[in-house]
Amino acid sequence: MKLYLLVIAVVSFLAYISCDGCIQCHSKDNERCATDPLSLLKRDCSDGTSNCYSRIQDGYTIRGCAVDLDNATRNSCNNELICQLCTYGAGCNRNTFPVSRQTCLQCSGNSTTSACGKDTYVSPQICPLYKFGDKCYIRNSNRTVDGSFQRGCLTSANANKQCVKDGNCYTCEGRGCNFLLANDTNIPLARDSGAQVFMSMSLLIGGLLAAWSL
Ligand SMILES: *[C@@H]1O[C@H](CO)[C@@H](O)[C@H](O)[C@H]1NC(C)=O
Ligand SMILES: *[C@@H]1O[C@H](CO)[C@@H](O)[C@H](O)[C@H]1NC(C)=O
Ligand SMILES: *[C@@H]1O[C@H](CO)[C@@H](O)[C@H](O)[C@H]1NC(C)=O
Ligand SMILES: *[C@@H]1O[C@H](CO)[C@@H](O)[C@H](O)[C@H]1NC(C)=O
Repeated sequence: MKLYLLVIAVVSFLAYISCDGCIQCHSKDNERCATDPLSLLKRDCSDGTSNCYSRIQDGYTIRGCAVDLDNATRNSCNNELICQLCTYGAGCNRNTFPVSRQTCLQCSGNSTTSACGKDTYVSPQICPLYKFGDKCYIRNSNRTVDGSFQRGCLTSANANKQCVKDGNCYTCEGRGCNFLLANDTNIPLARDSGAQVFMSMSLLIGGLLAAWSL
């Protein structure tokens, strides 16, 4: 009985590793689709092949089976920065896409004593959103709360409405270039805060409510 189970397990494992399929993911739901695709498992395609794609849409990374693309997208999927097909093996779309993605130190802490401020010898990681020519940043609002010191990819900061205006963040070009120590004088004091956006939104909504109740 035990032997049977073992045989079944081995056979299904072999079937699993030898069969076709593609990595199928969207970085909006699973960030690893962009930053760590090697950690994802392939799944079968409806046509039983290993015709796969990797593509970028609105900064997100999408991977899947070519059969699931609409004709127009599939026919124009031939650009190493936007969309690429592969057929050379199961899960062939599990490489970093595009190959030349920006990498930055990415962490968050407080401005006073956090590891994010001090540990600058950690390895940079792939930026979760893709934008050609993305930069790295350091943002320091010189406060004690968690999140007052940050390192990361400029596209992600901009998506949170931070580091949009010049002079609030240190930015740099090149892989893992944002490794300055927290006390480096090249890092400006950040005065743009997500909290301010939230405040003005609350004021706006408060104002609308007040106007409505009059
Ligand atoms: C897509 O292309 C296939 C063959 O390449 C064709 O059979 C099918 O009708 C096309 N579908 C659409 C919606 O154009
Ligand atoms: C800053 O963060 C560190 C851990 O990263 C913590 O030990 C320390 O208490 C924090 N400082 C303040 C003022 O919150
Ligand atoms: C950050 O705050 C500390 C203590 O409040 C102060 O000594 C320091 O000058 C400030 N740094 C910047 C860049 O404003
Ligand atoms: C910055 O901090 C490091 C250690 O964290 C220290 O060795 C260095 O002297 C500091 N530089 C300045 C200008 O305060």
